[in-house]
Amino acid sequence: MTINYKDYIASVPDFPEPGIVYRDISPLMANGEAYAAATNELVAYAKDKGVEMVVGPEARGFIVGCPVAYKLGVGFAPARKKGKLPRPTVSASYDLEYGSETLYLHKDAVKPGQRVLVVDDLLATGGTIFATIALVEKLGGIVVGTAFIVELEDLHGRDKLKGYDMMTLTTYRGA
Ligand code: PRP
Ligand code: MG
Repeated sequence: MTINYKDYIASVPDFPEPGIVYRDISPLMANGEAYAAATNELVAYAKDKGVEMVVGPEARGFIVGCPVAYKLGVGFAPARKKGKLPRPTVSASYDLEYGSETLYLHKDAVKPGQRVLVVDDLLATGGTIFATIALVEKLGGIVVGTAFIVELEDLHGRDKLKGYDMMTLTTYRGA
């Protein structure tokens, strides 16, 4: 099925604060055909990369990553926010507009040399995905691809991913 993903992404002005346009993928997830089409495209991207594990950041990275891992027939490891993972972790921080955020990954989530696909719903500044990549690499994993449903081109996250293979299903420029 050919699909225009933007038809299933709601643009919400001034959320979570004035001047920000929130790109909401929940209509896409609510539509079985659209969610499956997005999942299948991400799987097709990853299929020949020898992926052994998928890693996605809390929370929306779980929504995108889990069905991809299931269809690839590999495991999924969640990169979580503070205080959520019960066993020993590695951590990586990234800057927000005000302050910073830290993500954590269980130390045994990725094995040295394992080939990892890193996914999230959306690439904006790239801080979240860069921290997720850092977690995988701290454990000796090899990031063989990065994949997103949405890219916000004006925020230049792609610049942080130089040297990594990446794909996005749809891109927004300007508001
Ligand atoms: C959003 C989105 C990405 C991230 C992209 O997550 O889901 O993970 O921002 O922004 P960046 O490229 O500038 O880092 P958010 O932090 O809002 O949390 P959520 O996934 O838990 O909703
Ligand atoms: Mg997120």
